[in-house]
Formats: sequence, structure tokens, C-alpha cells
Amino acid sequence: MASALASTTPLCPFDLAARVGCRGGAAHTCAVSGRLGWRSLKRPCSTEPSSDAFRNLTAISPATPHRCDTVQICTMGILAWKSGDPAGLDWTDTIVSKSSSKLPSPVEVGVDLFFGGWRTFVVASAVELDVFTAISSGAATVVQIASAANAHEPAMRRLLDALVALKYLTHKGERYALTSQSATFLVRGVELYMEGIDRFATFQMMGWTQLTETIRTGKPGKPSVPTGDDVAAAEFFATLVKCMFPLSFVGGKAAVASLSAAARARIRNILDVAAGSGAWSIPFAQANHRAQVTVVDFPQVTPVTREYTARFKVSERYRYLEGNLRELDFGTGYDLVILGHVIHGEGREAGRYLVERSAAALNDRGMLLIAEMIPNDERTGPPYPMLFGINMLLHTAQGDVFTMKEYREWLKAAAFKGVQTIRTPMVLSPLILARK
Ligand SMILES: C[S@@+](CC[C@H](N)C(=O)[O-])C[C@H]1O[C@@H](n2cnc3c(N)ncnc32)[C@H](O)[C@@H]1O
Repeated sequence: MASALASTTPLCPFDLAARVGCRGGAAHTCAVSGRLGWRSLKRPCSTEPSSDAFRNLTAISPATPHRCDTVQICTMGILAWKSGDPAGLDWTDTIVSKSSSKLPSPVEVGVDLFFGGWRTFVVASAVELDVFTAISSGAATVVQIASAANAHEPAMRRLLDALVALKYLTHKGERYALTSQSATFLVRGVELYMEGIDRFATFQMMGWTQLTETIRTGKPGKPSVPTGDDVAAAEFFATLVKCMFPLSFVGGKAAVASLSAAARARIRNILDVAAGSGAWSIPFAQANHRAQVTVVDFPQVTPVTREYTARFKVSERYRYLEGNLRELDFGTGYDLVILGHVIHGEGREAGRYLVERSAAALNDRGMLLIAEMIPNDERTGPPYPMLFGINMLLHTAQGDVFTMKEYREWLKAAAFKGVQTIRTPMVLSPLILARK
């Protein structure tokens, strides 16, 4: 589509609009934006579509050439054409068409079904090729980045340009640079590097290919998330908790920031259940130098906790209860219990039981922090918690997401007296803070 369009050279906005099929007098309002800002086309486009480019576009559209949905598809074509044209078009960024057509737009459906998963693979490939690390180390041009990644130059240019579009890179002249997100999370060796995310992302996407079968049978696809205290479970989680470290760590920092200094000072004894990297408890340990943390996790995962607690210089205040959390005695006397992203994997009954066990482990006035993906009470959204529920169906035997209403019921039944939510743009769903 882009190359066919690139063969046309429209001379003015009217001509361009005509070539992409914008036609129909009162039925369409076209606008052209560019250096001069948004402007309505005074003259409705009326030229019959004639170019190969236009035929090419309409060939993939189920709609007739002069319907607005064609124009929307064409608009995507224009954008593709513009970026593929070395000369560029400084007077046109896009064309907008408003139609009296009653047809719904096919764009969202198209994005979901044609393009949805591509973003994951683009970013995962860039991580696998260590593109972000190469740029951080000084590579800036396609030649330099492709050479550092031992990759094919023209293909690397495509990847880099897509990463610019997805806002993982910026591009000026011949030089590519990191954005703050890629610099913070995707450069090997930085404090918040999502280590292993390329392999994990691919593994997870493979599981999603079996969704239809899982919906038919109700059984998780393969490979599923291993459960129990076997080696496979431990190896899976040892990789996962490194990838997700920054997601939890910034959430933990936000939770700490939401507490008063007096409340932070009272938190001396912390239980981090299914701690993984320790991402939720490390910010509390940093905030209060007298705080001690007890970690519960598989013995194959606690080396990761040790690595991260050492990185953040809190390791001497950590101790470990290693094994299967379903069998371990948590003890008592804690000021804060953390259940970070563990209830969804445990499922309803075991999750509820974990809330009860947390209550039993806490001192009077102690607090329970729950971090989870939380759908609304009607389970109609937001999209990511709902999709996460499907992810649990696909990858686990019992896992699911639970609503605030459900958490409130469980917390009340476990004799928690107050429940607050902490909302922060750093996490997808609000955090839950319950007080005994
Ligand atoms: C999704 S990760 C969450 C890690 C961390 N709390 C966070 O939010 O970043 C789940 C953690 O639970 C641990 N886990 C899962 N099942 C467990 C079990 N039966 N016994 C002990 N640990 C378990 C895993 O090893 C992993 O560290």
C-alpha cells in the first residue's frame, strides 16, 4: 500500500484528497493539516479515483470507493505514503473525512485483528537485539546500531523507525536516541532493566495462540504457568520476577509515598509473601532504615530477591522463609504484610485464605498491602484487568482477577477495619491498603 502511494505525487491538497477517494460534496468534509494548521477544503473533491494507489487501497476495502470507511483506510495509506516518501509533504499531515455513512468504523477491529500483537514483538525483538543498550552505549545511526546488533541494515532501519512510532526511540537527522522509558527500563545493566522480558513476552504470546482451545475445554493451554514447588515453577518465576521488577518497584514507591512519615516509621516488621525480587518491600525498607523484611518464596527464586536487595543496599535487613507458601508458617508480629501479584495466581479460595492468613500474621493496627489487576465490580472493564483474567485462565489452573467488591468482602471477613485504595499512574489498578 505504501509503495503504491509513493508512486503518486499529488500537487495540492485537493488533488491528494481526490486520489485517495475523498468525494461526494455534502457527504464529506475534508480537512488538511500542516504548517498552516487545520483547514477545511473549500471545494469538495470530485475527481474520480484513477491512480493505481487508489485502486490498490479500495481493493482491500469491503466498502465502496466513495464511502467514508474507505477514506479512513486511505488515510492510513496517506500516513504510510508520507513516511515512505523521501521528499515528504510539508503541507499535509492527514486528511479527515466526516461522513453521513451509518457504517461503524472498521479501524478498531482492524487494529485488534491485524496489528494488535505486533507491538509486543517489535519491542521484544529490539530488546533481544539489545538495540536500546547499543544506543545507550553510543551507537546512533542505523549503520552503528545494526553493526552492534549484528543485524541487516535496511531491516534494522525498519525496526528503528517502528520504535520511533511507538515512542521507544526518537529520530533526528540520521541519529536515533532513547526516550526516557526505553532508557529507564530497556537498557541492559540499568537499575530498573526488565531483564528477560524478550523471552518472557514471546513465551507468553505462544500461550495465547491456544486461547480458542482453552475456551472450548476450560483447560489451560501449554505451556502453562507451572504451579506447586517444582523446579519448573521456580525457574518460570525466577525469570518473571526479574522482568516485572520495575512495574512492582515503582508501585511500591508510590505506596510508600502515600503514607505519612509517622505511618512509615511504625512499619518495622514486614512480611513480603511471594516476594519475587522483593520489589514491593524494598521501597519500604529504603524508607525506614529500622525495618526488617521476611520474604516468603521458593528457594529457587530467593537468589533473585538477594540480588535485588543487594542492588538496593537493603539486603542485611532481609531474612527468608523458603518453600511453598501454602505450607509455610508465616509467623506473627508483622506491621505490614504485602501480597504483591500473588492472589491472581492462587485463585479465589486460596486467595481469600491468604488474606485471612495475612490478618492472623499482623499486629493490631497492622496493614495489608495488596497489589493486583482489579476489574470494575461489573467485570466490564478496564480492558487490561479483563485481559489479565483471560491470561490467568490460559496459563493457570485456578487463577483469576477479583473486583474491589470481592476484596472488600474478603477483608471484612478477615476482620480488617478499614480499606483504602491508592491510585497512582504508576500502576494499572489501584493498590489496596487494609488496616486491622
Ligand atoms: C507474579 S510473581 C510476583 C512477585 C512479586 N510479589 C511482585 O509483585 O513483583 C509471583 C511470586 O509468587 C511466588 N510463588 C508462586 N507460587 C508460590 C508458592 N506456591 N510458594 C511460594 N512462592 C510462590 C513466585 O515464585 C513469584 O515470586
